[in-house]
Amino acid sequence: MDRPIGIFDSGVGGLTVLDSLRKQLPQENLIYIGDNLHCPYGNKTKEQLLSYTKQICQYFISKNVKMIVLACNTTSANVLNELQILFPNVPIVGVINSTVHDFLVQDKKNVLVIATHATIQSHKYKEMIEKYNQSIHVFELETPQLVPLIESGEYKKDIYSVLNDYLSVYKNDIDSLILGCTHYPIVLNQIMEVLGDKTYISSSHAISQEVYSYLKVHNQLNTCSKKALIQIYTTGDVHDFIYSSSDFFDFTNLEVKHLIL
Ligand code: DGL
Repeated sequence: MDRPIGIFDSGVGGLTVLDSLRKQLPQENLIYIGDNLHCPYGNKTKEQLLSYTKQICQYFISKNVKMIVLACNTTSANVLNELQILFPNVPIVGVINSTVHDFLVQDKKNVLVIATHATIQSHKYKEMIEKYNQSIHVFELETPQLVPLIESGEYKKDIYSVLNDYLSVYKNDIDSLILGCTHYPIVLNQIMEVLGDKTYISSSHAISQEVYSYLKVHNQLNTCSKKALIQIYTTGDVHDFIYSSSDFFDFTNLEVKHLIL
């Protein structure tokens, strides 16, 4: 039960999921990998995504994890099934299912999904929403400039004009927005400035509920009273990783280490 949970993303975006997991499951040991060496994932092919994520899963399995969380929509949309087949002995979950369910219960009619190129091209969100409710109109939009702006820390200065160019044309047509990339909650306030009063859905809350339910049902919640250990790794530069994320993620008592896979 005290085996860790492995969580990964292409970079700092999945920290939004890690943050929610550590709040909802404070007793769980967590290992996070930001694969900054290969970031962004959004413009990569399925073969590339599979090769990067296979290595990450192998690393997690060598650390005896009890579960792997794809804190990344791009890999959840494109290689989740393949990873589940390759590693049948460890439960692997992606973020899209739980995000769609979180959206559906809001009872909205016109939703815009923003995500990376690879996520939008998979049409996973649109297909899944329409499977459950055909009367919902799903707009899809690739927003490839956002991840590089967030990873570089540029978003701290100004991201308004980029967001405005992407989003303002949808303002009168939608009642809800799905942030279909785990990096995007980092700029949620700026997005809200452009779109105003809408229902905003992101992956971080829903996925930690799903992880909790899975562990509870399988009797795998960590009941050990020892303080939980959170290990954070990046395959890129440690200082850059901390610079781009320290405004939204609290690193108190945590160290970020470089990892070579
Ligand atoms: N944060 C990831 C996602 O949810 C990856 C984005 C990227 O690296 O392009 O899609």
